[in-house]
Amino acid sequence: MRLAITDEPSLKTAAARGAAVLRAGGLVAFPTETVYGLGADATNATAVARVFEAKERPHFDPLIVHLGAADWLERVVESAPAEARRLAEKFWPGPLTLVLPKRAVIPDIATAGLPTVAVRVPAHPVAHAMIEAAGVPVAAPSANRFGRISPTTGPAVEEELGGRIELILDAGPTRHGIESTIVAFDAAGPRVLRPGPVTLEALRECLGREVRFAARESGTPASPGMMESHYAPRTPLRLMDPKLTLVGRVGLLAFSETRAVPGFAAVETLSASGDLREAAANLFAALRRLDAAGLDLIVAEPVPEQGLGVAIMDRLRKAAWPRTAVSR
Ligand code: TXA
Ligand code: MG
Repeated sequence: MRLAITDEPSLKTAAARGAAVLRAGGLVAFPTETVYGLGADATNATAVARVFEAKERPHFDPLIVHLGAADWLERVVESAPAEARRLAEKFWPGPLTLVLPKRAVIPDIATAGLPTVAVRVPAHPVAHAMIEAAGVPVAAPSANRFGRISPTTGPAVEEELGGRIELILDAGPTRHGIESTIVAFDAAGPRVLRPGPVTLEALRECLGREVRFAARESGTPASPGMMESHYAPRTPLRLMDPKLTLVGRVGLLAFSETRAVPGFAAVETLSASGDLREAAANLFAALRRLDAAGLDLIVAEPVPEQGLGVAIMDRLRKAAWPRTAVSR
């Protein structure tokens, strides 16, 4: 069932309903400032197992554990390096996930057997109120079925998971529209596993040092989140390339100005003014609309690869896998 949240009283009711479902071991899809999450009590292994079932994941991926406040961190992690604490102080609540050594209270199924857990404090008022009311950390991947686009609206969640979960809390479109930045720590310092709304530039500025992407070994991603096919629409997608031959019904995912190019059966513009923030917020919903338009091919215009553009291009390249993999 889908509960619409439109004002303060409906937020309170929805948060309480969500918290009750979570405490009973059920599943709740809820809005965060990035994308919608599919939540379960992170300390309840059976509830977490149901998340994988609902998503039809072929294997157990480690999930992000969402906290009600930064001071819950000690409940779920053994330790955190000084730089992790600095980042948490600066960016929580917000779209930054930190990978840290886990405590036993987090069952192995939530971390796919890894000794580390990914944690963040979401900034969305509904997520915050629900987690606080539940009083437990909430394990939540994005609320889509395996390999599909992350949902950024209530109806998109319904399309993905309707009928499989107890409750959907619908508070409208999410602010950032792409998933959180993930940072892990090794002996050399912080490493970005997934680019997101907290940009490399912002991380560097906060820490006063260089921050790099985790090295991607051939064939073995450092994080399953680096899996190339993670964000694929059903329709084949390719990045714009003058060498592309366009046959059949082709859709255009344009970054800024919608050029009157004849021959496109559908066009979605991410941001008429070329604003990366607006483009990120619109990305997954635009991809979903193109995916539903009965096209043979979606062609995506590249965006400038700076700031949020790094995260947008990361998602577009993953959506294009494997068809462009050979040419990259
Ligand atoms: O914005 C977000 O992060 C959204 C909202 C709901 O919070 N969540 C999200 O979850 O994107 P999910 O499951 O779709 O992506 C979580 C990513 C996965 O790619 C996973 O591999 C990585 O986090 N991850 C989780 N735990 C990890 C760990 N211990 N080490 C390395 N990567 C980890
Ligand atoms: Mg996901």
